[in-house]
Amino acid sequence: MPSDHSRSPSIVVLISGSGSNLQAIIDGIEANAIPATISAVISNKSNVKGLARATAHGIPSHVLDHTQHTDREHYDLALQALIDEYSPDLVILAGFMRILTSSFVEHYAGKMLNIHPSLLPKFKGLHTHQRAIEANEAEHGCSVHFVTPELDGGPIIGQRKVTISEHETEDSLASKVQKEEHFLYPLCTRLFVEGRLSLTDTGPCLDGTPITEGGLDLTDMDDL
Ligand code: GAR
Repeated sequence: MPSDHSRSPSIVVLISGSGSNLQAIIDGIEANAIPATISAVISNKSNVKGLARATAHGIPSHVLDHTQHTDREHYDLALQALIDEYSPDLVILAGFMRILTSSFVEHYAGKMLNIHPSLLPKFKGLHTHQRAIEANEAEHGCSVHFVTPELDGGPIIGQRKVTISEHETEDSLASKVQKEEHFLYPLCTRLFVEGRLSLTDTGPCLDGTPITEGGLDLTDMDDL
């Protein structure tokens, strides 16, 4: 992946909250399943659990409070400057709950991933679990995609599905989906840092083969 083979690929992770996906990726790295280093964790909110997770694993962390910036453009410029101090090969959005400016997104084109708690393109935005239940969906799940300026609209790399049971609640469905997220995101991270995933002019590819629209169904993979 990086041209400099003397260092492992560098990842910067952006969070706003609990950081359970961050934790899953840290665990994958520490288990030697993901050949990469998390160079920094950046949160737009202070005192969130994800920051404590970073500290517990010796990862530098920063709070860049969006309320201290006049507007989205200024915030994203400051965020970009902070991220770029680490020269990351990959930027991971792990529950980073902010809409991003196009220029920020384009700066990281092809090297920024997001996880979203639905089977995209269904249920972009918020409250995905409740909306899936209300829509009487039989299945729900999570998606990892390359980030483009369209919110939750970038090319999908992979998905994992869960069945919505008869008496499903928003909370029970959220915990089922999060369990799948914690497999899917480390897996996609691994594929990216191994240089197997790329975003070309015609869409995302795995090992040089185009990934079909809708992404890879990775539901049945059970080994990172
Ligand atoms: C995850 O469920 C992720 O899919 C969602 O935020 C949660 C963060 O949890 N992201 C989005 O909704 C983005 N549109 P975590 O902080 O425990 O990883």
